[in-house]
Amino acid sequence: MEKVLYIANWKSNKSKSEGTLFFEELGRLIGSIDLSRQEIIIAPPFTFISDARKIVDQQKLPIKLSGQNVSSYPSGAYTGEINAGQLREYAEYVIIGHSERRKYLHESDSDIENKIREAQEVGLKVIQCVQDEKSLVHRGAQIIAYEPPSAIGSGNPDDPEHVEEVFRILKKQNPEITLIYGGSVSSDNIDSYKSIEGMGGFLIGGASLNANSFVSLLS
Ligand code: PGA
Repeated sequence: MEKVLYIANWKSNKSKSEGTLFFEELGRLIGSIDLSRQEIIIAPPFTFISDARKIVDQQKLPIKLSGQNVSSYPSGAYTGEINAGQLREYAEYVIIGHSERRKYLHESDSDIENKIREAQEVGLKVIQCVQDEKSLVHRGAQIIAYEPPSAIGSGNPDDPEHVEEVFRILKKQNPEITLIYGGSVSSDNIDSYKSIEGMGGFLIGGASLNANSFVSLLS
C-alpha cells in the first residue's frame, strides 16, 4: 500500500531562521508519529532548500523535500531560473503548475509540459496541480494535486463529496496516478477527506507553516 503524502507548500514564506526553527520543531514532534503509512514532504522556498537538505541528511529525518517550481529550460543562459538538475541535488519531488503560478506568473500548459519534461529527465517526481477534472494532465506527472482555485487560501475547502467525484473522473483517465487534494486543508476538516476512495494525500499551504499545526494533520 502506498503511503499517504502530506506535502507542505510553504509558498513565498519563511526566512532561513524561521525555516530552521520549523525543522527543529518538526524533528522533535516526528518521533511520536507512525510514518509507516505516511510520507512527509516539505516544499520550502529555493532560498532555504539547501539548508533543509543539510538538516534532513545530518539528522537523518524521515522527510522528503520538494521544489515549488522548476525552470522549463535546461541549464544555460536563463537568468534567474533554477533548472531541474540543480533542484535534483536537493529534492526528490517538484510541484508544477500551481494555480498561483498560472494566475500571477502567467504559466501556460506548454510551460507546464516543458517543466514536467525537464523534471522527468533528472528523476524528480512530479506533482502536477490541476484545477478541475477537465484540466490537462501531462504525461510524466506521477501525482495529481486537485486544487480548486476557490479553495486555495480561502478557508472554503471543496466538499468531500465533490472531491470524491473529481477523483473518480481523474482516476478513470489516469489510472496509474496518485491523487491528492489541496485547498484550505486544516485539522478541522482533514478527517472528512481521509476516507475518500483513492485519497493519496494532501497539498497543504497555510496549515503547513507551523510545525505543530502541520503535524496535527497526520494520523
Ligand atoms: P492552502 O494552500 O492550504 O493555504 O489553501 C494550498 C495550496 O495552495 O497548495
